[in-house]
Amino acid sequence: MVIKIKKICCIGAGYVGGPTMSVIADRCPEIFVDVVDKNVERIKLWNSTNLKDLPIYEPGLEDIVKRRRGKNLTFSTNIKEKISSADMIFISVNTPTKTKGIGAGQASDLKWVEACARDVANFATGHTVVVEKSTLPVKTAEVIKKILEASQIPINFETKKSFDVLSNPEFLAEGSAIKDLEYPDRVLIGGENNEAILALNDIYINWVSPEKILHTNIWSSELAKLTANAFLAQRISSINSISALCENTGADVKEVSRAIGLDSRIGSKFLNSGPGFGGSCFKKDILNLVYLSKYFGLEEVAEFWEGVVKLNNWHQHRLSRLITNKLFGTISGKKICILGFSFKANTNDTRESAAITICKDLLEEGAFLSISDPKVNKKQIEKDLKSYSLNNLNYSEISDFFNYEGQWAFEEDINNAAEKSDAIVILTEWEEYLNINWEEISTMMRKPAWIFDARSILDPKEIKDNDLYLWRIGNGQSND
Ligand code: NAD
Ligand code: UGA
Repeated sequence: MVIKIKKICCIGAGYVGGPTMSVIADRCPEIFVDVVDKNVERIKLWNSTNLKDLPIYEPGLEDIVKRRRGKNLTFSTNIKEKISSADMIFISVNTPTKTKGIGAGQASDLKWVEACARDVANFATGHTVVVEKSTLPVKTAEVIKKILEASQIPINFETKKSFDVLSNPEFLAEGSAIKDLEYPDRVLIGGENNEAILALNDIYINWVSPEKILHTNIWSSELAKLTANAFLAQRISSINSISALCENTGADVKEVSRAIGLDSRIGSKFLNSGPGFGGSCFKKDILNLVYLSKYFGLEEVAEFWEGVVKLNNWHQHRLSRLITNKLFGTISGKKICILGFSFKANTNDTRESAAITICKDLLEEGAFLSISDPKVNKKQIEKDLKSYSLNNLNYSEISDFFNYEGQWAFEEDINNAAEKSDAIVILTEWEEYLNINWEEISTMMRKPAWIFDARSILDPKEIKDNDLYLWRIGNGQSND
């Protein structure tokens, strides 16, 4: 039986569901794509007239939404209706780490995936291909199948509905989501029924060359996604561990990265030392792998991967300790300017951002922080730093910040953020920060003043020529 897909429904209008479905709608104009979510506010934003108000910032996304929305792409909360009319349903909901119960702190919380499976079981009609787009522990497809099968019981000898389940994990990275979706390194489709696999294959074939579309069994597909993230995160922890060694030995981590990256067996990508990996997935996916390994009694395997997360945590706290130590061992009464709050450039996402850990550490030590980011807004930072007071001050009237210990302000303007600060800490590699006028900034800071470049993006000479002390991640020679 050939399965022809005319209507897609995606449950979950988040960082993955929104951009992925926009690209499918763009590349397959003959397919209708309905994105549904239970979050009314999020859906409202996806339908904003002003495209600048879309809930997710991704370069290239606005243009696609402008082209397809209202034509073959819709965003709504009509979950029941859109499920019932779809031939293919993508489950693209959040799968965070469990916070309580069995496996708390490591296993994935699958309650949203299960809720979706139940909705699909209840509302789907005819034959439906259900696609796991969320990142899931191995064997989740079995759970989904069981729930769907329970709804397939024939009524009056007539089977009303039937299902296929596929795994099609997403490999996009935030900030480059549209490019990653339009030009993927590979597309992975795991499943048992060849007709269902071909139905999904037929969608991707509209813009992805066939040799890049891999067909595997469903469990390999689920495990490959966790493994890909674990390997990427492991490279970052590896290079960050070396950055600490560089700082102590006089080596420069940039030179070390370049030297090892030229070995074609190692490769040059994902070797930039920074403030520690963030984002919603690396930590959760590794912890998921740790949980699975323990579940199968593979303690050594679990310990190996857990080490990647431990190193990342240590590294983030290492940076905040180092900042305090450089500022004569105390930061209370001092203003520290934080440039960059998102977990990487070109996204407004702050989930698991190293900035959250580092800012909390500095606030605990009594600093006053002025935080600036080109895309993250004050409301989001308030959520992330919820137990610390927000206090937008008039800096011209203040000579020291002793009365504002453990408080923070949001500044859009970098000069305001830097005014009267003792240090500037660069935590995200935003392009804007490459064009800072250090001559001007230097005159506004309280001396001696430090620049902490946790992304190694600044020109050291320019900083030093402007009467500023510089610390650069992984640089054991030029750090003051
Ligand atoms: P997200 O939190 O941005 O979006 C998930 C959306 O699902 C939310 O808007 C939520 O309201 C909605 N939702 C949850 N349960 C629902 C239900 N029962 N019915 C309707 N809507 C529901 O999450 P995300 O970042 O898009 O991640 C989704 C999945 O994709 C996760 O498993 C993640 O690991 C994986 N993933 C994420 C990325 C990424 O870059 N963010 C990349 C690859 C894979
Ligand atoms: C990552 C993967 O790259 C995607 O393939 C995957 O689909 C996604 O996770 C997911 O499953 O969610 P993402 O988290 O969006 O994508 O961003 P990355 O570019 O991987 O960066 C993750 C973190 O590592 C960021 O904090 C980034 O600053 C840091 N990083 C990255 C470094 O510190 N150094 C590097 O060399 C690269």
